[in-house]
Amino acid sequence: MAMTFSEITTALPPKAVTTIDQLPFPRVASGKVREIFDLGDALLLTATDRLSAFDVVLPDGIPGKGAILTQMSNWWFAHTQHLIQNHLLPDQAGEFQRRGITDRDLQLRSMVVRKLTTVPIECVVRGYLVGSGWSSYQKTGEVCGIKLPTGLRQADRLPAPIFTPTTKAPKGQHDEAINDAQGIAIVGAALYEKLKSLSLALYQAGHDRARQAGMILADTKFEFGTDATGDVWLIDEVLTPDSSRYWPAESYAPDQSPPSYDKQFVRDHLLAVKWDQKTPAPRLPAEVIALTQEKYLAALKNLLGG
Ligand SMILES: Nc1ncnc2c1ncn2[C@@H]1O[C@H](COP(=O)(O)OP(=O)(O)OP(=O)(O)O)[C@@H](O)[C@H]1O
Ligand SMILES: [Mg+2]
Repeated sequence: MAMTFSEITTALPPKAVTTIDQLPFPRVASGKVREIFDLGDALLLTATDRLSAFDVVLPDGIPGKGAILTQMSNWWFAHTQHLIQNHLLPDQAGEFQRRGITDRDLQLRSMVVRKLTTVPIECVVRGYLVGSGWSSYQKTGEVCGIKLPTGLRQADRLPAPIFTPTTKAPKGQHDEAINDAQGIAIVGAALYEKLKSLSLALYQAGHDRARQAGMILADTKFEFGTDATGDVWLIDEVLTPDSSRYWPAESYAPDQSPPSYDKQFVRDHLLAVKWDQKTPAPRLPAEVIALTQEKYLAALKNLLGG
C-alpha cells in the first residue's frame, strides 16, 4: 500500500537517525546511506538519514531523509512496474508484520527485498547537459564517448537522452565513466543492451511523470540485479534526489545550472569552507540541514501530491 505525503511527514523523526543498531538480523553490508540485513529468504534494505557529499559520508544526517528516499522509491517502483519488475516483495506491510519489524520509523525507511546478484555497472541516463557531462562536452564535444552536436549550452536538453554508465567503485573510490565497449566487456553484450534499453525507457517514463509534477529530471542512475535464471530486476533506490538530479521546471533555463532538489546547499557550504574532501568532513550548520530537508520534502510532495 502506497503512503501519502502527510502520512510520511507526520512520522518524520525529530533527530537524524544515522546508525541502525539492535536489530536481531545479521548485517550483510553497510553502504554510505543504507544498511542491509539478512532476513534469510529476503533482505532488509534500510535507508538511514546519512548524507554523502563528494563520496564522503558527513557527520550530520538529515532528519527523515531515509524515509523520504524509501517512500519515494516505493512510489516510483509502483509507477514503473509496467516497464520492469523490481526487487520489492509485493506485500511490504505483511512482510514487516511477519518478520517482527514493528517500529514505525524503521518500517518507513525500510524495504523487504528479493535477494539478487547486483549487476556491476551503474546505469546512468542523461537528458540534459550538466555537471560532469557539461565539463566533458566543453573539453571534447563528447560525453562518455558519445559525440554531441556543437553549440549546446550548459543545461540544454539533449537531442535524445543518452546512456552513460559507470563502474561500481569499491567503498571510498569514485565511479569511473565507461563507454559501450567497456560496459560490454564487464557484463556481456546481451545484458548490456538490455540494461541500456531498460534505463532509457525508465528515464523517459521518469522524465514525463516528473514533468507533470512540475520538475525536470535532468539525469539519474539505476541499479539492476539478476536472479538465478538470469532475469533482470530493478533494485536499490529509484529516481530519488540522491540518485537523480531534479530541477524545478519553473526556474529552468539553459546556460545556467538550475538549483536542484538535493544536497546543493550542502555542496555549496562544503565548497565555501574549503574542505579538502577527505574524511573527516566538517559539521553542517543547522540552517543547511533544515534547508536540505526542505528540498527533499519538496520533491516528495511534488511527486506524491498533498
Ligand atoms: N535487491 C538487492 N539485492 C542485493 N543488493 C542490493 C539490492 N538492492 C540494493 N542493493 C545494494 O545495496 C547497496 C545500498 O547501499 P548504499 O546505497 O548505502 O551504498 P552505496 O551504493 O555505497 O552508496 P551510494 O548510493 O551513496 O553510492 C548498494 O550496494 C546496492 O547495490
Ligand atoms: Mg547507493
